[in-house]
Amino acid sequence: MQPEYVSLFERAYEACEQSYAPYSHFRVGAALLCDDGSVITGVNVENRSFGLTICAERNAIAAAISAGKRRFKALAVATPDATYPVSPCGACRQVISEFMPSSGAVVFGNAKDSYVVSTVGELMPHDALHDLSSCLVREEQEHSS
Ligand code: THU
Repeated sequence: MQPEYVSLFERAYEACEQSYAPYSHFRVGAALLCDDGSVITGVNVENRSFGLTICAERNAIAAAISAGKRRFKALAVATPDATYPVSPCGACRQVISEFMPSSGAVVFGNAKDSYVVSTVGELMPHDALHDLSSCLVREEQEHSS
C-alpha cells in the first residue's frame, strides 16, 4: 500500500476510538484525504431508533464539506470489530461518489495488515450521473474562487 494511504488508514483506525456504537458494538472510522492535503475523520454515530444511524464515511464527508473542503483524493475506512475488511455501504458509496473521481482510492480494512485498496469506480460501476456531480462541484469551486 502507498505510504500516504497507510497513514490515512491509520487515521481511520485511530478515529474508531470516538465511534458511538452502543447498539451494534461495531466501530467504524473514516479518514478523508482532501485535495489540499488535509485529513478529516468521521465515525459512525448510532441512534436508538436504529434508522437514524449515520455511517462513519458520511460523517467524515459532512465534516469535510462543513469545513469548506470539496474534493477528496482518497478515503480510508477502518472496521476493527470485523474479521474481514468491510467495504462502504450502498448509501455511503453514493455520497462518496458525489465528491470523488472514479479513480479516487478507497482503502478499507479491519486491521493494519488486512485491507483492500479499491477505487470509487470499482465500488460504483455504471454510475451514469457521476460526471454531473463532478461538473457541479467544479463549477461551484470556480464561482467561489
Ligand atoms: N457502518 C458504517 O459506519 N459504515 C459502513 O459503510 C457500514 C456500516 C456502521 C453503521 C452501524 O453503526 C454499524 O456500522 C453496523 O452496521
